[in-house]
Amino acid sequence: MRNFTSVNDICDLKKALEEAFEIKADRYKYCDLGKNKTLMMVFFNSSLRTRLSTQKAALNLGMNVIVLDINQGAWKLETERGVIMDGDKPEHILEAIPVMGSYCDVIGVRSFARFENKADDYNEVILNQFIKYSGRPVFSMEAATRHPLQSFADLITIEEHKTKARPKVVLTWAPHPKALPQAVPNSFAEWMNATDYEFVITHPKGYELDPAFVGNARVEYDQMKAFEGADFVYAKNWAAYTGDNYGKVLSTDREWTVSDRQMAVTNNAYFMHCLPVRRNMIVTDDVIESERSLVIPEAANREISATVVLKNILEGLK
Ligand code: CP
Repeated sequence: MRNFTSVNDICDLKKALEEAFEIKADRYKYCDLGKNKTLMMVFFNSSLRTRLSTQKAALNLGMNVIVLDINQGAWKLETERGVIMDGDKPEHILEAIPVMGSYCDVIGVRSFARFENKADDYNEVILNQFIKYSGRPVFSMEAATRHPLQSFADLITIEEHKTKARPKVVLTWAPHPKALPQAVPNSFAEWMNATDYEFVITHPKGYELDPAFVGNARVEYDQMKAFEGADFVYAKNWAAYTGDNYGKVLSTDREWTVSDRQMAVTNNAYFMHCLPVRRNMIVTDDVIESERSLVIPEAANREISATVVLKNILEGLK
């Protein structure tokens, strides 16, 4: 594997899951693979899980780790070419990226959608500049349109808990006071569509995702109907994608907050969310604290998904 930005970078999903369970059984099995190799983790946005789990994954593989928070202690970066740099940004990303690449062997990048320009977000301008100019393998630690390390961990978690070959998985929009990117739902949809699960997406009208990510999933606007018989419920907020509403909050309707009312019509479904989660906006205290909540094992599996991805990138360096 050279770069990891989506499920398409995994050649064989079944094999990747086998590797995940192998690593989960012995997470230090490949502890010499990263000897004298350095991972640089570059954050344009905040993180708890990605920062810790990816660092732990690198340590599992014997790598050195450098972490750079662009907004805390680094020079402010200009990202547009052709700009006269007479403002508050003293460094251009086109110099900064190859400099970063000169200090490491692998780069992880977190760069969310900015909601300033839909084309820039959906063309993954920042992530692709790292791929183009760093000279190093690059993996996404959540980019503008996808969060593949999260989705891989979600898939591992579903595989661990499913009790039938083809579980019903429901991705539900839920309310949130701020505009959040579509990266997690896009990516979750993409990974679910790569399985043979029954996959349903439910959201209020106006919150349609990019059809490229929805794929063959069934879209159901009636949340209660979507939840009927579900084995897994995956909640997430996202801002509008379509037309002039791109990046806007169209609804904060708490009828969509996942509660015992909706969970009652499921097949005793497991509840999932990538975290961080706003309680009693996205999900009630009772549901997230219930014994069917998988949010903690899901987060723990981030270490496993990151270890598998870094292992494959390191093997590609040889
Ligand atoms: N789920 C996830 O990516 O968490 P962080 O934003 O805390 O890294």
